[in-house]
Order: sequence, then C-alpha cells, then structure tokens
Amino acid sequence: MDDSPESAATSPMNRAWGGRFSGGPAAVMQAINASIPFDKRLWRHDIAGSIAHARMLGATGIIAMSDAEAIIEGLSALAEEFEAHGVPEDPALEDIHMTVEAKLAERIGDAAGRLHTARSRNDQVATSFRLWVRDAIDGHVAALDSFIATLARRAEDEAATILPGFTHLQVAQPVTLGHHLLAYAEMLGRDIDRFLDARSRMNLCPLGAAALAGTGFPIDREMTARLLGFDAPTANSLDSVSDRDFALDYLCAAAQCALHLSRLAEEIILWASQPFGFVLLPDQWSTGSSIMPQKRNPDAAELVRGHAGRILGLMTGLMATMKGLPLAYAKDMQDDKEPLFEAHDLLALSIAAMAGMMADIGFDRTRMRAAAATGHATATDLADWLVREKGLPFREAHHLVGRAVRAAEERGVGLQDLPEAVLAGLDPRLSGAGRAPLSLEASVASRTSPGGTAPVRVREAAARLLARGEASP
Ligand code: ARG
Repeated sequence: MDDSPESAATSPMNRAWGGRFSGGPAAVMQAINASIPFDKRLWRHDIAGSIAHARMLGATGIIAMSDAEAIIEGLSALAEEFEAHGVPEDPALEDIHMTVEAKLAERIGDAAGRLHTARSRNDQVATSFRLWVRDAIDGHVAALDSFIATLARRAEDEAATILPGFTHLQVAQPVTLGHHLLAYAEMLGRDIDRFLDARSRMNLCPLGAAALAGTGFPIDREMTARLLGFDAPTANSLDSVSDRDFALDYLCAAAQCALHLSRLAEEIILWASQPFGFVLLPDQWSTGSSIMPQKRNPDAAELVRGHAGRILGLMTGLMATMKGLPLAYAKDMQDDKEPLFEAHDLLALSIAAMAGMMADIGFDRTRMRAAAATGHATATDLADWLVREKGLPFREAHHLVGRAVRAAEERGVGLQDLPEAVLAGLDPRLSGAGRAPLSLEASVASRTSPGGTAPVRVREAAARLLARGEASP
C-alpha cells in the first residue's frame, strides 16, 4: 500500500457521501474505513435486502414501479455477475453496500440512485448481517443434527461395550461406551437449542429504521420483513441500528458448542495416548511426526481444542467492542463482522472434523474392558448388595466395602477375587458377599434407572435420538 497521506486525496470524491467534502480521504483514512475486504461476504444477503426494499418502495408508490423493476432486474443480474466473477474490491467504495449500489448504477443508470430512499446503511447493514447470521445458524444446526445421528448410530453398536467411567479422572464405576458417546449427543442437542433460540430471537427485521430515527416516507415494514423471511419488523428504530445482540447470541452459542467439541477432542486425545489405548485414530484422521517415525498424532482433535479457545476469544472481543457504545450506530460496530466470520469458519470446520473423526474412529473394546477391571470399579455394587441383601444402611455398607477394598489391595487382587473366608473374617456381615454380582457386565446391566448406563437404556436413548433426527426437516 502507498502510505503517503496525500495519495488518496486525489482520488474521486465519495459518490455516496462526498457532497459536503472538497477533498478525498487520506490513504490511511481509506484503509481504516474500508470494510469491503471482509464484508463482501455479505453480498447475497445485501442484495436480497435491497431487492425487498425496492419491491416495497415500488408497491407503496414511494418510487415509480418502473424504477423499482429496473432496480430489481439490475440487482438480480448483479447477483449473477458476483456469483460468476466474485465481488470487486474497491476501497474507495468502502463497503459491500456502496459497492452494490455503485455496480447497480453502472448497469441501470439513474434509477439506481432511488434505491437508497427511506433507508440508511445503518438499517441496511443490520438487516444484511442478521440474514447472514440466520444462514450461519441453519448451517450449524444441520451439521450438528447429522453429528448427533452419527453418535447415536455408534452408540447402538457400543451399547454393551464396557469402559471405566471416571470422576476426578480416577476410575469410578464401569459405564458403557454407548452411554459415554450419547453424553456428547446431549451436549450437542443443547447447542442446537441454543442456536435455534438465538435464531428465533433475532428473526425481526431492522430495515426501515433508516439512520436511527425512522423515516417520513410511507414505508411498509411488514412487507419487507415478510419478503425477507423475518417474523415481524423490530420495534424501536434506535435499538434496530445499534443492536448487535443477535451477533453476540450467535457467538455465545458458538463458544459453548466449541467448548463441547473441545471436551470431546480432549477425550479422544487422552484415549488415543498409549497408556489409555482406548481408540485407534484411522490414518485419515492422524498425522505423523517429522522426526519420530512411530508417531501417530491426533492433530485434528488438538486443533478443535485450540479453535475453541479462539472462538471464546472472539465472543469476548465483540462484547468488549459493544460495551461502551452509546446509542445509536457507531463505526466501532463495523468490527462486528470479522469475529463472526472467523468464529463461523472455525466452528464449521471443528464440527466437520469431530463428526468425521467419530464416524471413523476405531474402539479397542478389549483395552477398555481391561481398564474397567482395574481400580475396584464395582465397589459400589458390593455396597448396594449389602444394602439390598443384608438390610445395612448405605453409610455402613460403604464403610465395610472400604475395608474389603483395603484387604484386596493388600493382597494385590480385585475386590471380586477376595476369598470368602477373608470377607467373612473382616466382618460377619460380609459373609456370602462372594455371591454379589460384581462382574462389570452385571454392574452396567443393573443401572437401569432412567438416564442410566445399562445397555437397554442406551439402546432406547440412541433410538430416540435417531427418531428425532428423522422427524426434523
Ligand atoms: N460498513 C458499515 C458497517 O459495517 C456500514 C454502515 C455504515 N454506516 C455509517 N453510518 N457509516 O458498519
């Protein structure tokens, strides 16, 4: 870039607002002001908003129907041109809104100048951006729906696969792998709900708020709202042009979704490590090391974990941008787009990577079962047996089993392998405890409470999720 302050001063005056100016902007002014390098991504939504506005201007008689038709035809042709050749990036035209208007003028001449009647870039950008966020949400929801279906299908196959369940990353109780996978399906289901909640709250049309105060032209805001698929127009013109809650709602939902993906990624990273060895990442989801020939690294999962940090930062960043702004529009708000674009791209990639990885990953059932067999994972089952069979209060049963675990540890055996004589010697109430069903299979099969880890509950839960997926459009 030529950084001399004079260089842009010789460039032509801005057509959209140059009337009161006698000189053009400094080059650096133009550089800091222009958003076209990134907001050109809004072109489809901006053109859609302008077509709706022109239709309304024609229908209400605010501009001649012939002008409205020329504008709409021109905008449609422009959309085809952008689709084929991309959006031109002229910093003198500042942003996508002025680029579209200038290109329209090149095509249809004077009638283009009537498009901006009863409108401002402030309500225009708020409208275009809402439309973009709405599409972004729809894309994530579809991707998450299919990810949930993948998890549900794998959970059906692994409904009876046993692995250690952890608390504090210490072996706690045996659980089924299907149950573990469906825990993530639940998180992703809440992410969908959060996105849809944000969508329904944002689905109001700011177009017609004009610069900040509304307009004296007899516009039909119901009509533009309907044409653009919004539920209704927004209620307050000042709020309409200065509200970016919809962008923040999106980022909050995205950050929480990224957080869930990151937890799953972390799980995969742990499980793929040699001490765990619970999973084998297939070749297409691993990378090698340039120095250590034996390495197979879970880079995609690590990047999903890393991306979650960035998405969280983008959310925080836009909140910081917004928190000091008085009503109504301020140019700081132009900085709302890049964080959303970046968060969207990172999240879309993260969902795709985790969904692909979870579809293809290999589970080592033998290793998982062996790990569950360590750490006296069925100690709670023995305490439950004492409660049921011997009528002991749970606290007392817990204490007795604690002593049995210590005895097992001293002998270097598992709880279920303690000889009957040793048990009875510890406490007469432990006699017969050898009959307690302490196998891993018996343990998970017994946990049939609603939402429990028993294979029968897991199959039901998986079927419910798959049916929900088929029912949604
Ligand atoms: N490019 C601007 C943005 O994204 C459009 C709105 C400009 N409005 C204004 N009053 N300068 O925020």
